[in-house]
Amino acid sequence: MSEIAKLQIGENTYEFPLVKGTEDEVAIDVKTLRGATGGVITIDPGFKNTGSCQSAITFLNGEEGVLRYRGYSIEELAEKADFLEVAYLLIFGELPTQEQLDKFYNDILDNAIVDDDIKKIIDAFPKNSHPMGILSSLTSALTAFNPSSVNVDSEEDMYNAIVKIMGKFPVLVAWTMRKVKGLPLNYGSRKIGYVENVMKMMFEKPNEDYEINPIVRDALDKLLILHADHEQNCSTSTVRIVGSSHAGLFASISAGISALWGPLHGGANQAVLEMLEAIKADGGDTKKYMGKAKDKEDPFRLMGFGHRVYKNFDPRAKIIKVAADEVLDDLGVEDPVLDIAKGLEQEALSDEYFVKRKLYPNVDFYSGIIYRAMDIPVEMFTVMFALGRLPGWIAQWREMRLRKEPIGRPRQVYTGENYRPFVKINKR
Ligand code: CMC
Repeated sequence: MSEIAKLQIGENTYEFPLVKGTEDEVAIDVKTLRGATGGVITIDPGFKNTGSCQSAITFLNGEEGVLRYRGYSIEELAEKADFLEVAYLLIFGELPTQEQLDKFYNDILDNAIVDDDIKKIIDAFPKNSHPMGILSSLTSALTAFNPSSVNVDSEEDMYNAIVKIMGKFPVLVAWTMRKVKGLPLNYGSRKIGYVENVMKMMFEKPNEDYEINPIVRDALDKLLILHADHEQNCSTSTVRIVGSSHAGLFASISAGISALWGPLHGGANQAVLEMLEAIKADGGDTKKYMGKAKDKEDPFRLMGFGHRVYKNFDPRAKIIKVAADEVLDDLGVEDPVLDIAKGLEQEALSDEYFVKRKLYPNVDFYSGIIYRAMDIPVEMFTVMFALGRLPGWIAQWREMRLRKEPIGRPRQVYTGENYRPFVKINKR
């Protein structure tokens, strides 16, 4: 293939170099377009055809349903690695040795407390606040308690910021849930692992010793791994673009949490369970809801179906579907919405509307069923997604800053009024 793309505008032809990735993805490098053409730009709402950066973190092939972190397949990582190892891999590029992992975890534990005044902020939230709103505010508030900015040219400064957020974020996640449930705020322990501490902080009751259920632990670990990164999705792009203004890591992550909240992105896991419950309450008639999803006059969408990039099975959904069966079985939980979900999937996979548009179950379709079996409230589902996505956001922020990427600032094509003179209020 030629290494050059040619663009003809009127009489003029312009040449642009092609950029090739390690998996042979090809992009046209249009950096010089506006200058060379005297002002022509590209327009691509939703960035469906636009690469915002080059990245060495996550590879995904939506046509074939492939997802890899730093070259390792999601299937292998979900089966063989644990979440903290995956976090290290995403952030620093290589799987850690035992020594590196121990140091990483120790440094995280050293930072796994938050300023006690954070409790006053939590106290001020109404109990019925959405946990994503609380989490995003608390993450932003961390900036006030840890004001020093990160010198990105200092490896030590970067590392310290990373272990700080990795340590404090699970505390904020757990406290967000405890606030909603009216439980006293607690802390983890140095004697147990990262995921175990998340569970202890979330579920421990004030009047009993908390015992880790290994089935729940393994399932949570797997879910966090599956959510850990997904290249340039909405929230990650938000983290990168906010960070590109040299806003700090905590502020950038807080913005990412807000982006994740929406039902078209991470908020879909909550929306899926609410949808399945509504179908159940309506008599379990999946055909009726399939009809609604296909009706262009009806705003209803089959939540947990479809993906901007996957035009095949989301590999994460395949793993989660198996895990949902196992976890519910192991915990002895019978959840009728699992059957409704399977029924919907079955119908969608053979329905012309869904087949033609290549709409398959995504990561959010089955995850809520597992979270609910773990006794996590529905409004907390997207918070759990955020906990899993944290290492991905950190890795992408770090990569963006180390590569000294310019501030993200798209252009537009203006379609408003042309110049018109101001008219005084008494003349309008
Ligand atoms: N139910 C019914 N129709 C759908 C759905 C759905 N869930 N998803 C897409 N379509 C239709 C859509 O109406 C359009 O039809 P047409 O070509 O006739 O206009 C076509 O499929 C293409 O959809 P699109 O909205 O142009 O695709 P997109 O890439 O802009 O949107 C999406 C991707 C994920 C926002 C969308 O599929 C959706 O809204 N899904 C439901 C929400 C959801 O599950 N989100 C979680 C995504 S995975 C977790 C994450 O990484 O965030």
